[in-house]
Amino acid sequence: MDTASTERFLPPDTLRSTANLTAAAFDEAADDRLAFWARQADRLHWDAPFRQVLDWSDAPFARWFVDGRLNVAYNCVDRHVENGHGDRVALRFVGEPGDEQAITYRDLQEQVSRAADALERRGVRAGDPVAIYLPMIPEAVVAMLACARIGAPHTVVFGGFSADALSSRILDFRARTVITADGGFRRGAPSALKPAVDAALEKCPDVTTVLVVRRTGQDIGWVEDRDEWWHDALAGASAKHTPQSFDSEQPLFVMYTSGTTGKPKGILHTSGGYLTQAAYTFWGVFDHQPDDVYWCTADVGWITGHSYLVYGPLAVGATQVIYEGTPDTPHRGRWWEIIERHRVTLFYTAPTAIRTCMKWGDDLPARYDLSSLRILGTVGESINPEAYRWYRRNIGGDRTPIVDTWWQTETGAHMLSPLPGVTAAKPGAAMGPIPGISADVVDDDGNPVLPGESGYLVLTEPWPAMVRTIWGDPDRFRETYWSRWPGYYFAGDGARRDLDGDIWLLGRVDDVMNVSGHRLSTVEIESALVSHPRVAEAAVVGAADDTTGQAVVAYVILREAAGRDEPDLAEELRRHVAVEIGPIAKPRHILLVPELPKTRSGKIMRRLLRDVAENREVGDATTLADAGVMDQIRSGMAAARPEDD
Ligand code: PRX
Repeated sequence: MDTASTERFLPPDTLRSTANLTAAAFDEAADDRLAFWARQADRLHWDAPFRQVLDWSDAPFARWFVDGRLNVAYNCVDRHVENGHGDRVALRFVGEPGDEQAITYRDLQEQVSRAADALERRGVRAGDPVAIYLPMIPEAVVAMLACARIGAPHTVVFGGFSADALSSRILDFRARTVITADGGFRRGAPSALKPAVDAALEKCPDVTTVLVVRRTGQDIGWVEDRDEWWHDALAGASAKHTPQSFDSEQPLFVMYTSGTTGKPKGILHTSGGYLTQAAYTFWGVFDHQPDDVYWCTADVGWITGHSYLVYGPLAVGATQVIYEGTPDTPHRGRWWEIIERHRVTLFYTAPTAIRTCMKWGDDLPARYDLSSLRILGTVGESINPEAYRWYRRNIGGDRTPIVDTWWQTETGAHMLSPLPGVTAAKPGAAMGPIPGISADVVDDDGNPVLPGESGYLVLTEPWPAMVRTIWGDPDRFRETYWSRWPGYYFAGDGARRDLDGDIWLLGRVDDVMNVSGHRLSTVEIESALVSHPRVAEAAVVGAADDTTGQAVVAYVILREAAGRDEPDLAEELRRHVAVEIGPIAKPRHILLVPELPKTRSGKIMRRLLRDVAENREVGDATTLADAGVMDQIRSGMAAARPEDD
């Protein structure tokens, strides 16, 4: 790996002298970190100034920009109109069937105002949680900003999650209002959402209002007195709405993410600190300039869609593309066609998508004029050097820097990344913390590792966009992130410092998998499997996969012996996981096994199962209670035929 670390891509000369963030920012932040963040907070409009940058006296519960007051939606929309940019396009929406809309900041102001007024007329007040379950359409952005405008925290649930996953989030969040759509367009056809809401709400009696966006026009069920069309609600609302100011620590949203237990964690983000870091990183890491056209391919249902599709870009008044569909509909050149058509300059996507495009061949992007691009970004997992080079050459014309941004749902915004005008970037490395952020790689005792060694990534100082708590569970928050080494936030990732001191991420060190840049918990999928009446026990591991980074492999023991007459059972179990969690969690392989490898104390040795799943020599199995188990499993795996979606 150290040979790879000698390959570097220097910033283009033009960017070196003109970039928003220069090397001087590292010194400024190092001189006085809090003063540096106070200057970043000045990117926002504050209705009342903060009196203190950080209150860390109740660590790990932080308060940033103490007593400052602001309105997040005003910062993302109205102030750009007031500053004379009302005619600037905020969102260039591209629907999968080819319909397009250009929504200016003035249009957005009107829609957000109407939606905020509509919510208030339906009794939603500051602090009332709202759940959003929408496809990638402009209304998702409007709905989030409308909640922010009235101080109602939102949780956006990814449209690919099932009714069960949706209901458990609505219940945990205590939402009484849901914003959804009839469906969205995906892979050339309408894909329904409303039936999942109807099923979910059977378990959520407290939900009294459901606003439904009409996107596909498909037939849907309707519950009188509960369901209402979004367009009717907005038409009956006022286009003028006065934003109130809220405390800097007003909850903005909760994003549920997988942890190491079966129950997803509600990651709470608040207002002033989150928006400051989202805006600063969007401006600095993507080097945003007023005439840029930015496009992030993430779904609004994930943290990337929150920070780099809604709050970061809009806080700085950017123009961006949002695209509803998949990269291969109606053809595999769709993304590159959109970049050519809208002259996209900044493009942000995930390594798994890059690897997929790589497989589709170089000739596809070569058919389009991608010369408008000036900076490329990636997020979600480490990008393997081969995909990095392909991305830079075939999409970036060997001109564009690539920012490999490391961050998490919990960090809220970028933490480690090369800077496009400063860093001599190495393919595959997140390089180091950006100005204002403090990180280290430590060993088991919490001591910094030496150059050339591996350990655990920690964040050594609080940061403005940090998770404030786990919704409803402050003890779990402290325990999960802050207990391993006192004073340090433990990210759950392994990392290596190379001989130059640069940081490479090595993947999760806990029971969390990363499939196509999405976090999935082994335990959550195991619980889904054992909830099936035929399953006695299950063990899930993430196995290395060329395209998706990791793939889910499940080993299942049935309640009764698995007869050869049940070839469909594995498929039924995969479907069961899709119903319990969502299609993204479906195991790629399910192996019906007679026994699982366990230590004498009963702990499943996932390491050995991973060896089998990755077709490796099985490692040290001497602590197994029953030494013959692994042979049985291995012969079962050899007989199993891979199934792909
Ligand atoms: O393991 C790291 C990986 O994704 C995890 C965070 O997942 P999530 O909260 O879903 O957020 C994804 C989008 C921010 C991290 O713990 N990860 C994310 N970005 C990178 C990465 N691993 C290596 N390099 C990255 N650039």
